[in-house]
Amino acid sequence: DAGHYDTGGYEHYLLKEISEQPETITRTMSGRLDERFHVAHLGGLNMDARETRGFRQVKIIGCGSAYYSGQIGAQLIEELARIPADAEPASEFRYRNPVVDPDTLYVAISQSGETYDTLAAVQELKRKGGRVIGIVNAVGSAIAREVDGGIYLHAGPEVSVASTKAFTSTSVAFALLALHLGRVRDLSPADGRRIVDGLRRLPGQIEQILAQGEEIAELAKKYAPHPSMMFVGRVRGYPVAREGAQKLKEISYVHAEAYPASELKHGPLALIGPEMPTVAIVPDDELLDKNLTTLGEIRARGGRVLMVGHRAPDAKLADDVIVIPKNEIELDPILLTIPLQLLAYYAAVALGRDVDKPRNLAKSVTVE
Ligand code: G6P
Repeated sequence: DAGHYDTGGYEHYLLKEISEQPETITRTMSGRLDERFHVAHLGGLNMDARETRGFRQVKIIGCGSAYYSGQIGAQLIEELARIPADAEPASEFRYRNPVVDPDTLYVAISQSGETYDTLAAVQELKRKGGRVIGIVNAVGSAIAREVDGGIYLHAGPEVSVASTKAFTSTSVAFALLALHLGRVRDLSPADGRRIVDGLRRLPGQIEQILAQGEEIAELAKKYAPHPSMMFVGRVRGYPVAREGAQKLKEISYVHAEAYPASELKHGPLALIGPEMPTVAIVPDDELLDKNLTTLGEIRARGGRVLMVGHRAPDAKLADDVIVIPKNEIELDPILLTIPLQLLAYYAAVALGRDVDKPRNLAKSVTVE
């Protein structure tokens, strides 16, 4: 159906796909949230409770934005299920001859399901007896066929090269997986309910952020002319910063670096000055004070700050602020991502770039 693939009145597929996110994450959650027992139903995993309880570690692999959403996923699993979890680029994983452990749950992430590095990593894992599940958007794709089970995103076709709706749907799928792993272990019914209720609030909150599109477009016009931008965040904010920098690089060609906020002083602070502004991810969580201290350090070096968070700080600490709705702290990264997508989109438009087909990039890299 060709109508399915047109821009639906939007100027670019990218803006259409950003705008669809309230619906696409709703589809990812659909039929999977249990209001009564505060659990997630993930039948596609093909795993009983005993097996689910047995994993001692979770290892997540993917490329590009899929890898960054995997970092969000690793944090969700550690926080909600208290299982050690980490993410790694699929290519690095496969080239370094990894130790494949029978008590580890491997998770391969791919929007297209066709990325060669991710597919080859899955094949290597299976060759060595690893248990691999997929978080995939494209139904029946090569990776979906190769894994032992998984979670389909149901986000619909993503056309624009830069990933947006698949990124948020993957993060939501990880919240479901973390809830599922948590509730067969030690996550209490009360905490399960807190997460289920938080997930339900996300689509409406994304609408609220999308309604700020014009203000974000103005900010994008103001910051886009800088040759380089720094993105910083701590813990939950760090993968958000990485994905924000990636989006900006991919579609506006503005150089961007992402650093954990605490690492600034160990090197990149030398770059900070009026010509290199910082986008700071500052959620209202237990690290708020630490993050505000970082803003002070940037400002003291003459650096401009665009803060994304839940409330405006002292005017001395930020030049501009994008305020977004608050959810449960574990789910904040999903919402913090949205303004950065819009910022990159409007920066690319302001600079006259080919938004949906950036130079040198392909939607899915099916070769080595
Ligand atoms: C390409 C795209 C990226 C994407 C990555 C992984 O490099 O340009 O936007 O994140 O592949 O794609 P996948 O389909 O595996 O999620």
